[in-house]
Amino acid sequence: MANTFVWTYLFSLITASSFVAGAPSGHCSGDHLSIEGGNYTVDKDFGPGSVLVYHCPPGYYPSVRSRRCLDTGNWDPAPKRSRPGRPGLICKLVRCPDPLVFEHGSVLPAQDRYYVNDTTTYECSSAYKLYGSATRVCKANGKWSGSTPICSSNSDHCPDPGVPAGMRRTGNIFNIGDKISYRCEDGLILIGSEERTCLESRDWTGQEPACYYDYTYDTADEIAEAFSSSLKTSLTVEMTNEQQGKKIRMEKGGNLHIYIAIDASDSIDLTSFNHAKEIVKKLIDEISYYEMTPKYDIVIFATEVTPIVDIKKYYGGTQRELDQVIVDLDSFDYEGKGDNAGSDIAGAFNHIYEQMSWVRENEARFVNTSHIIIMFTDGEANMGGNPEPKVGLIKDLVQRDNGKLENLDIYMFGVGEHVQREDLNIYATKRDNEKHVFIVTDMEKLHTIFADMIDEKSSDGLCGLHRDYQFKDDQGENLKRRQPWLVEISVQHKELFSKCLGSLITPRFVLTSAHCFKSADTDRTTVTPASKEITVVEKVTIHSGYNVSAKTNKGIPEFYDYDVALIKLKEAVKVSAMTRASEKDLGSHTPPATTIWSVSRGGLSDLKDICRLISNSMHLRPICIPCTKETSAALKLHGKGVTCKQHEDILLDKEHVEALFMSPQRKMKKAFIHLKDKEKPCLEKSIKAPQITTKRYEDVVTERFLCTGGLDHDHIDDAACKGDSGGALFRERRKRSIQVGVISWGVVDVCSGEGSGKSSDDNRDFHINLFKVQQFLKDNLVDGTLTFID
Ligand SMILES: *[C@@H]1O[C@H](CO)[C@@H](O)[C@H](O)[C@H]1NC(C)=O
Ligand SMILES: *[C@@H]1O[C@H](CO)[C@@H](O)[C@H](O)[C@H]1NC(C)=O
Ligand SMILES: *[C@@H]1O[C@H](CO)[C@@H](O)[C@H](O)[C@H]1NC(C)=O
Ligand SMILES: *[C@@H]1O[C@H](CO)[C@@H](O)[C@H](O)[C@H]1NC(C)=O
Repeated sequence: MANTFVWTYLFSLITASSFVAGAPSGHCSGDHLSIEGGNYTVDKDFGPGSVLVYHCPPGYYPSVRSRRCLDTGNWDPAPKRSRPGRPGLICKLVRCPDPLVFEHGSVLPAQDRYYVNDTTTYECSSAYKLYGSATRVCKANGKWSGSTPICSSNSDHCPDPGVPAGMRRTGNIFNIGDKISYRCEDGLILIGSEERTCLESRDWTGQEPACYYDYTYDTADEIAEAFSSSLKTSLTVEMTNEQQGKKIRMEKGGNLHIYIAIDASDSIDLTSFNHAKEIVKKLIDEISYYEMTPKYDIVIFATEVTPIVDIKKYYGGTQRELDQVIVDLDSFDYEGKGDNAGSDIAGAFNHIYEQMSWVRENEARFVNTSHIIIMFTDGEANMGGNPEPKVGLIKDLVQRDNGKLENLDIYMFGVGEHVQREDLNIYATKRDNEKHVFIVTDMEKLHTIFADMIDEKSSDGLCGLHRDYQFKDDQGENLKRRQPWLVEISVQHKELFSKCLGSLITPRFVLTSAHCFKSADTDRTTVTPASKEITVVEKVTIHSGYNVSAKTNKGIPEFYDYDVALIKLKEAVKVSAMTRASEKDLGSHTPPATTIWSVSRGGLSDLKDICRLISNSMHLRPICIPCTKETSAALKLHGKGVTCKQHEDILLDKEHVEALFMSPQRKMKKAFIHLKDKEKPCLEKSIKAPQITTKRYEDVVTERFLCTGGLDHDHIDDAACKGDSGGALFRERRKRSIQVGVISWGVVDVCSGEGSGKSSDDNRDFHINLFKVQQFLKDNLVDGTLTFID
């Protein structure tokens, strides 16, 4: 704070000669600014243009929100001296809109005014049924909890739309074509649809309106939830076909265009602007986990419109890298943006219209493209004319040639202290059950919450997706990663126990190493369910090429070629996402180990293997494996011609490729796969293993193996330890994990006793390369959830 102050002040001395005299001219007074029950912040040392913002505790709002220091050295609005009989500024208790506009029922208690934490209950007269919430509490952000209570006899075609709190409704008949209209009580602002029409489909057009006071705002959680669920409709390719009631797959192939406009005018302070920028970066990052690869157009606007990312460039033949979009956005300098006195919202919409018009000429599938416009502004369009006609032009453009208006979504985020709520509502899309206007006060919180958007149900179909959830172990020290595909396997064969790791690769199959199963006698597997809730193993399939004793007479007592096995579960596990809520419930504690499957195998009484599979994650989700369409999506490879070779070129592309694997203690380890010129020297170390007497490394490690470890590059790899085998060796691409190998065996044990678990000069670990066992995977993964490519 102090540094900023000094620098800003010096800058003023150099540029504004009138200040050299030292006169406080242009500075606003610090007198009579205080607020009872709250405080204020000022952004620019009381100089001209400084914005003073009042803060109150949750559940209260300041009777004056902010003041601006004018060039004349006066505050606008001017502070008033408090005197007896006229109190100064105070933090007032937040009110919620009047809930008494409730038809065919009663509200208790009936009060003149309802303040934060007041509870109301709703009852319907006989012959009417209650829909919506029976109890509502006035929340600190000026909204009632729950949903609008409605007493309805449901005698008309469309459901009774009710009367939201604070509202008056005109229209009481709800048959096809009937219109209803709403207005808010004086002093409240309507957000949503002012008019709605009953459709043949029994839906109402538009969106249920709500009445906002000028202090009502959307909490960061509300925004993240409403925005992400609406946005995801555009991002997921899996869509429900209403008529047939079944899921159809839409190959949208990246035909999603996202236009983002950020207001940088003076009425938005630097902090808000920077948060908006961060939010946009997060958003772009989040969207990148989805199958859709949107094209972006980003502008920053004030008096002028400054393009940051130009959508036209996508059509120049050179594919824009996503990271470049983020760099371009990051390097935009708020201070360097020139004249920022005005806010030309019309200009920003016009720019978007012009870009879209250009795209329309160059994009054959324009009518089938989804267009999303996201604008961050305070809604104060003080120059450039009325934005509404420009929004009209955009709508017309999208609808030309039988294009559908549903392909256009306009989201308005209100930021800053002077949000013009009505105006935001005019430009935004109104769609049932979706919210497109968001009033943001806590931009900082919002930008952290945007990082969590992906844990929504609609991401269930994404393999390898995981959040960076970390939890402390019992010692409270080590942070560990939760991997939703990680499975612990323990096999009891007669008196022998073995423990391995495995990875869920479809909801019905776990991939692990063959050597976990001492007996390859898979035909005689029988299944005994341990309890009804437990999914049991149906079958264990070991690669037919696996024969540990195949080369005993060649000086290789244990030979691990084709060391892979698939465990088929009797029933598919339920794939689910860790949600923010469930994570909160869990706190930082280690989740309880859940036995999800167990089985006895072996038909002969003397041969009884018991296989238990344990997942330590409360949420299960398969990891991605190479050469499947699902992984193409994770790698953002689109189109028909994508090959397995392309996956390999991307995933195993360098001499040293960073890969990860897990320990049974859920600790993440890192090692580099040695490829190309580095591969042979790595594989050669295999003959250093104890008891191996052959001199030919090729006999020990075939082309099926990937090699990690050693000290010949600048990273000291983590070594695989006992218990790690069968686990996935995986690469991470933007929060998507893609398995490339199955951990098999190592040369030196650097883990036991005093071992560090770090690689040594002779230590090497070998993993079965999934690109080399494709046929085995294709032949056995028959549950139809993966689509293999050649
Ligand atoms: C100012 O008020 C806010 C909200 O009541 C409070 O969180 C903050 O701690 C206060 N700051 C100071 C310096 O008193
Ligand atoms: C509302 O209730 C909550 C929970 O009891 C309390 O923490 C909060 O202070 C109350 N708010 C006001 C403004 O009284
Ligand atoms: C747009 O999609 C529809 C329905 O899938 C299809 O019939 C039409 O050919 C598509 N038009 C273009 C230009 O791709
Ligand atoms: C494994 O290899 C050995 C040595 O070649 C052979 O005798 C044995 O039959 C093989 N086992 C199987 C199951 O193929």
